[in-house]
Amino acid sequence: MESAHAHRKDEHLALAEAEYRRQQPVSSLEQVRLIHQSLPEIKISDVSTTIRDAKFNFATPFYIEAMTGGSTRTGRINEQLAEAAKETGIAMAVGSQSVALKDPHAIETFTIARKVNPDGFIMANIGAGHTARSAQQVVEMIGANALEVHVNVAQEVVMPEGDQNFLWLDNIIDIIQTVSVPVIIKEVGFGMDAATIKKLYNCGAKYVNLGGRSGTNFAVIENRRYRDKDFNYDFLYDWGQTTAESLLEAQSLKQKPTIFATGGIQNPLDILKAQILGAKAVGIAGHFLHTTLQDGTAGLVNEITHWQQQLTELYALVGARSADDLVNVPYVLSTELQNYKNQRKL
Ligand SMILES: Cc1cc2nc3c(=O)[nH]c(=O)nc-3n(C[C@H](O)[C@H](O)[C@H](O)COP(=O)(O)O)c2cc1C
Repeated sequence: MESAHAHRKDEHLALAEAEYRRQQPVSSLEQVRLIHQSLPEIKISDVSTTIRDAKFNFATPFYIEAMTGGSTRTGRINEQLAEAAKETGIAMAVGSQSVALKDPHAIETFTIARKVNPDGFIMANIGAGHTARSAQQVVEMIGANALEVHVNVAQEVVMPEGDQNFLWLDNIIDIIQTVSVPVIIKEVGFGMDAATIKKLYNCGAKYVNLGGRSGTNFAVIENRRYRDKDFNYDFLYDWGQTTAESLLEAQSLKQKPTIFATGGIQNPLDILKAQILGAKAVGIAGHFLHTTLQDGTAGLVNEITHWQQQLTELYALVGARSADDLVNVPYVLSTELQNYKNQRKL
């Protein structure tokens, strides 16, 4: 019999997939239109999408974002995701490992990712409510190359058994200063504003994942888990900043951490747009989960391989030999997004 915490992981998985099928998410990046150039003067063979970063030297600027582990079923998914990551050479994050700190039986549902992909770039994951000691433990558990510390206040509010205390900054500072690998502070899908990013930067955060709204929605997922209760949180379904809005928030800052983006990424064009708006690398969760459940590991490998090729072609389409050239790509924002930018004085 698995723990209640493990059961929650299965519920998240099932509900995320059910919501994905019910309502294929619309990426907020559709509100950004890139300007076509008929003469990019480039050869596709000259394009490199490799990221230049001392700590995150990914050959591919997108990766499998944190989702699974904690139960037998989600451990099996971690195994499949790790197989696909190994095959395609992309990075991967495991889901929150806090369950494995409480229940040793859950450890192998995370370590499987490292076992399958011994040389891959794998990120550990834990909530910001945990101590630096726990953070180091989850890093060592899977021999992680980096650690994601998730901040999920809106999810906790809607979650039936959610936390009540959100005093996280001291932990975050401690974790950044103590843990032996680079640390990314990551939202789970409600986005960030400029003030939060600045606060994190001033606390020593070098990497921040804006985790915007537009894809997997944890207000919906947790609310569905609540369905038999008297109280309902459906008024929070559109809470938070979208991925596009969060990227504009980050753009407005002169001094800032390296920005990662996640939330509603559906195709290689979304990845390109997120990079043009300032993301160094882009995480994909719900969509890759859907592909894995529907088409298995082989289907995910096939999709990632195509996306790698298509992203290279898209770089050529906008005349970019590397990510450095993406800052020069012209674009226009939808009226709604421009209005957001104006009102926020970004
Ligand atoms: C089933 C599922 C479980 C998730 N669990 C975690 C988690 O444990 N830790 C975390 O930081 N994010 C978690 N996430 C959030 C994703 O990493 C990502 O930030 C979010 O789903 C938005 O990306 P997407 O629209 O591509 O799904 C989970 C997402 C899904 C779909």
